[in-house]
Amino acid sequence: MIKGLFPIDKFKRLRTPFYYYDCDVIRNTIQEIKHWSSFSNYHIHYAVKANANERILACLANYGFGADCVSGGEIEASINAGFKSSEIVFAGVGKADWEIELALKNDISCFNVESLPELAVINNLACKHNKIASIALRINPDVDAHTHSYITTGLKENKFGFNLSKIDEAVDLIKKSSNIKLIGLHFHIGSQITDLTVFQHLCIRINDIQDSLEKQGIGVEHINVGGGLGINYQHPNHIPIADFEGYFKVFGSYLNLRPNQQLHFELGRSIVAQCGSLITKVLYVKQGEVKQFAIVDAGMTDLIRPALYNAYHHIENISSDGSIEEYEVVGPICESSDVFGKSVALNHTERGDLLAIRSTGAYGETMASRYNLRQLPSSFFSDEI
Ligand code: LLP
Repeated sequence: MIKGLFPIDKFKRLRTPFYYYDCDVIRNTIQEIKHWSSFSNYHIHYAVKANANERILACLANYGFGADCVSGGEIEASINAGFKSSEIVFAGVGKADWEIELALKNDISCFNVESLPELAVINNLACKHNKIASIALRINPDVDAHTHSYITTGLKENKFGFNLSKIDEAVDLIKKSSNIKLIGLHFHIGSQITDLTVFQHLCIRINDIQDSLEKQGIGVEHINVGGGLGINYQHPNHIPIADFEGYFKVFGSYLNLRPNQQLHFELGRSIVAQCGSLITKVLYVKQGEVKQFAIVDAGMTDLIRPALYNAYHHIENISSDGSIEEYEVVGPICESSDVFGKSVALNHTERGDLLAIRSTGAYGETMASRYNLRQLPSSFFSDEI
């Protein structure tokens, strides 16, 4: 079994569980993205929800990414980490008034608006603060992302965005509102999309929508195609970088951008997932009737993806070279869904061994909770330990 390279001696000094971020992986990923998206009209806003660790945010701000935020907290964290306000977009179906006001005061670049009442509230608050809010309409293109139902967002009837049938009403309202300016169209159809033809369908749908809006005399400065590019959870060692070449080429080939039109992306998972591993210690190996359980000190409070989405994460015993055996890798929480992997092939495992739960840099640390009054996991970077 090929394993990831981990500084195991250094790990032994650290209290588990913790997230470990490999700086080489993140740097290589960023270079790959820069390489395939190096057009002056392409702008990448990192989806902060994927991982809001301060060092990750600072690193991405430093490389010139913008930020895609979904809360006031994310806007504050992004500004503190060095993202320029003029490169921040703010999305979400339920923006609270204080969050809209915070965004207005900081002159962020664009609100991705998801409903008629939200348009009205942003207009009123912008008027109160004597501002003109730039907005993009989030449109539901009704494209099936072929991904997990919990992370599919572009189908007709769901809470996100405007359905195609509501666009005319939204445009009418915008025309009547003096403190909002329509500058973009926003789309996001789902997450962990590995079939790139899905993005082709998105482009074709966007082309139709742009054509019909233009017939009504409406043109926009930018198209925002959201995020969603998937990663390879099965083989993090062999395929540590997502298919950015294929991804960016789809948009180059299929999307009809107008002259001077800007293209925005909101990638999260594909930027940070593979650089992170959750490192956890085996507390007990318990023999069941037929199964053996490796009970570890990380739980669903540290990484909820397996419990919430039945998500697969590759798991390695990084302390052992023993023969391969099967284990149920489970956490200590009093919930039967607190399972990281069933029938996991691990090198012979004993109490005290360290396991690496791979590809956890996205939606791992950010989704941690304090259920059972557990401590939040800490984090370490490869260049600091
Ligand atoms: N833009 C919008 C409007 C989004 O809703 C999302 C993710 C993104 C961008 C970033 O998508 P990404 O490139 O990361 O796929 N917790 C789930 C994922 C939820 C994604 C929510 N929206 C998971 O652990 O799989």
